[in-house]
Amino acid sequence: MLDHKSIRKFTDESPSDEVIETIVRAGQQAPFASQYYSVLLSRNKKRNPWKAPLLFTICIDSHKFELIMARRKWKLATNDLTLLIFGIQDAALMAENMVVAGRSLGLESCFLGSALYRADKIAKEYNLPERVFPLVQLAMGYPAEDPPTRPRYPFEFTLFEDKYPELSQEVVSKAMKQMDEGYLAQDYYIKARAKIPLEANRKETFTYENYSWTEHICRKWGQWYPDAKELLELFEKRGFHLTRKRKTAKDKD
Ligand SMILES: Cc1cc2nc3c(=O)[nH]c(=O)nc-3n(C[C@H](O)[C@H](O)[C@H](O)COP(=O)(O)O)c2cc1C
Repeated sequence: MLDHKSIRKFTDESPSDEVIETIVRAGQQAPFASQYYSVLLSRNKKRNPWKAPLLFTICIDSHKFELIMARRKWKLATNDLTLLIFGIQDAALMAENMVVAGRSLGLESCFLGSALYRADKIAKEYNLPERVFPLVQLAMGYPAEDPPTRPRYPFEFTLFEDKYPELSQEVVSKAMKQMDEGYLAQDYYIKARAKIPLEANRKETFTYENYSWTEHICRKWGQWYPDAKELLELFEKRGFHLTRKRKTAKDKD
């Protein structure tokens, strides 16, 4: 696990059904709150991102859970935000178990966060019923690259024993330096050509010589998605109501 790295180049080799089943079974064996997920698979190498032999889409799935509730003659009372937060934890634990299991069998992978915003398209493609929401995708296959591990924050910026410390400017600088120098040493952003453009007339002062992770992440979360409306609408479209009560069958009459 200490050698994990995301892989974005894969060989042509198709993993066997047995390998796929082992990986998904290992995912299922993750701890869960309510197994509030389903996993979709595409083996369409030509269309999958990075031409990966496998593309898993990990979904939040209330649909199949509600089928069980109906059989027990229950209806959901819990609000969708609570269900979603627990569901995301279930799905994330299952997905990372799949990554780790894959590695133990020689496969590597990379997550794709864009699934969230392509929920509509994915729902059509896989014929998803209402109340199934694609959370994240995981491209997987046998690796055709072997990059170094990517940097992480210093340990003391991560684990706080007994009490959350006052984070001095020195500690923050050290954490930023470790991340930025680590990515620069790998030419990560030059190779990926991944510099995020500045908006709102901000003047560009970075080149690929000094553009690194802390600037990259600030540009993401300092510019993108200021309004939750778009995402809330995507959830609403899939039948999840995060800001109001779910409509019951009675309300619909
Ligand atoms: C939820 C999530 C979404 C991600 N989305 C993308 C993505 O859309 N494209 C991509 O190239 N990598 C994506 N990644 C991979 C991260 O970029 C990667 O894990 C991070 O840079 C750390 O690198 P490492 O995994 O090689 O250690 C995603 C990872 C996670 C957990």
